[in-house]
Amino acid sequence: MAAYYPDELIEEVRSRSDIVAVIGSRVKLTKKGANYWACCPFHSEKTPSFSVSQNKQMYYCFGCGAGGNVVTFLMNYESYTFPEALEYLAERAGITLPKREMTGEERSREGLRARLLEINGEAARFYYYQLRQPVGKPGMDYLTRRGLSAETMRRFGLGYAPDEGYYSQVLYRWLHEKGYSDEELRTSGLVRFKEGRGAYDFFRGKVMYPIMDKNSRVIGFGGRVLDGRLPKYMNTAETPLFDKSRNLYGLFAAKLSKRPYLLVMEGYMDVIALHQAGIDCAVASLGTALTEGQARLLKRHTDNIILTYDSDAAGTKAAMHAIPILRAAGFNIRVLDLKPYKDPDELIVHEGAAAYEARIKNAVNFFLYQSDVWKKDFDLTDPAGLTAYFRKLAEELTTFPDELERENYLQAVCERQSIDPSLLRKMMNRIGNRRMSAEPDYGETPDENALATQSGRKKEKDEGLLVAAQMLLNWAACSGASTKRIRALLEEEDMPTETYKDVYRRILSEKEEKGSVLPASILNRYLEDEAQSKEAAAIFSKGFPEDTPAEEKARILTESLRRLRRERLNRELREADSAAKIQQLAKDRQSVYRLTVTAADTEE
Ligand code: UTP
Ligand code: MN
Repeated sequence: MAAYYPDELIEEVRSRSDIVAVIGSRVKLTKKGANYWACCPFHSEKTPSFSVSQNKQMYYCFGCGAGGNVVTFLMNYESYTFPEALEYLAERAGITLPKREMTGEERSREGLRARLLEINGEAARFYYYQLRQPVGKPGMDYLTRRGLSAETMRRFGLGYAPDEGYYSQVLYRWLHEKGYSDEELRTSGLVRFKEGRGAYDFFRGKVMYPIMDKNSRVIGFGGRVLDGRLPKYMNTAETPLFDKSRNLYGLFAAKLSKRPYLLVMEGYMDVIALHQAGIDCAVASLGTALTEGQARLLKRHTDNIILTYDSDAAGTKAAMHAIPILRAAGFNIRVLDLKPYKDPDELIVHEGAAAYEARIKNAVNFFLYQSDVWKKDFDLTDPAGLTAYFRKLAEELTTFPDELERENYLQAVCERQSIDPSLLRKMMNRIGNRRMSAEPDYGETPDENALATQSGRKKEKDEGLLVAAQMLLNWAACSGASTKRIRALLEEEDMPTETYKDVYRRILSEKEEKGSVLPASILNRYLEDEAQSKEAAAIFSKGFPEDTPAEEKARILTESLRRLRRERLNRELREADSAAKIQQLAKDRQSVYRLTVTAADTEE
């Protein structure tokens, strides 16, 4: 955990650990040009594409994309945890890590998190035990009635919170005796304190579902009433440990699944029922709408999501909310139809696992699902309503940047909704033309798009954008250009992904604070998230060959800059919802050619 040590200390240890020496003692490096090269230790290959840069103090593999600084290298190569890697390097560099001398705030934050983990673990054991005692009989009867086996209850750590009435202190007494302070217990959310009532257990007379992070550590609870009272579920409030937007129920189990997709649903019970039925890839959000943080978490495990939200209005709304988030994160998304059942658990109970598998097979692409949902907003018996629905579909189709993909969706949706494809195509062209008449020079021309006959095309284009952004970020980090000058040319919004934006912000602030930027020190910020760390390392892998003339650099940077800006304006144009906005973007678009990086800007 990076927060365990102060940033300055991490940076000191890193800066006194030469990456060439550390990697060189493990992997045979050969110097070629400015860099050292080897066959990549992280994937198997015959010709070296693993490079180590002494200047940047980082490594990067052009074959598999592994990359980072000396700390990440050890974490990956030696399977060290972050503190282990840091301790190793500190010892090697003769630095004593002030183990007990972290900054006070960090120590207390880390200490508190550790205590909260302990408290949640203790509480989970307590509830688990109670469920299996006479006092837990109502809970046990309830769960058994719902069809859960003893094994399933064990796997998910289900428990029972006894109820001794308004002043119930069963859990409180237990934890208090174990030595946790009132303040700690209050922070855990499991015990509350109130004037005149004293300490009382937050969960009383509830079936308890421990919520575990992906490493099976209990971070919070959902508690369900046993009867029809409302609210049906109560959940632990957010604590320094329990962040609902960055965890998923059941991921600890689903991450072990061999299936090439994850099923995303709403309910705890749904996840449990599916796992019990042998469908072991189910996860649920934690009583809130799906978030970007959860999408990122999912992305580390799969590229394929099947949404199986409840079939009622709330579930449909939740699915329609989740789709754009998952689309932005780059998933293949399908939607499973549960009707006539309300939720996954009901379907399993009534029809069993085989029926569920069949539904998985028949899950439709998200766009077809959306087309069904939108349809309900229009009166299709009225010609005007019908036209409005078609226009909605045409507009949504234009959000697919890739021509081939768009055409595929168009064909599929026309078939499903019995529409003549040429009709939708005409409407799409009209929408396109409307935007283009406001903007005569609209990015890639439609002709250029029409040339895209392979689906590889979009990928190449995206790849091109990433490279453009990488060139510019390296320039921002490594050239002598002032931050004022850099800001004047390159804007955060030009960056293609959130990580790129973040790296850009950090480059600017580090340059402003210290006058220069060392890529490896920026990479320190991403040590905890492997995907992000790789993405950031990829950025700094791009630089100009040593003897590139300044004019050449300037030309390439200028092109890259204009390309990013144009892409961004196109993106904004696609999302534009008013004529005024479209006109403004058209104007911006016409001044893109003024963005120029000069040879002087590229000097070191
Ligand atoms: P559902 O109401 O669909 O519950 O809520 P369910 O999973 O089918 O529950 P059972 O089958 O009746 O036991 C779905 C999810 O929404 C959250 C919970 O996470 C629940 O699993 N929820 C629901 C709450 O947080 N609070 C509530 O009052 C209701
Ligand atoms: Mn249910």
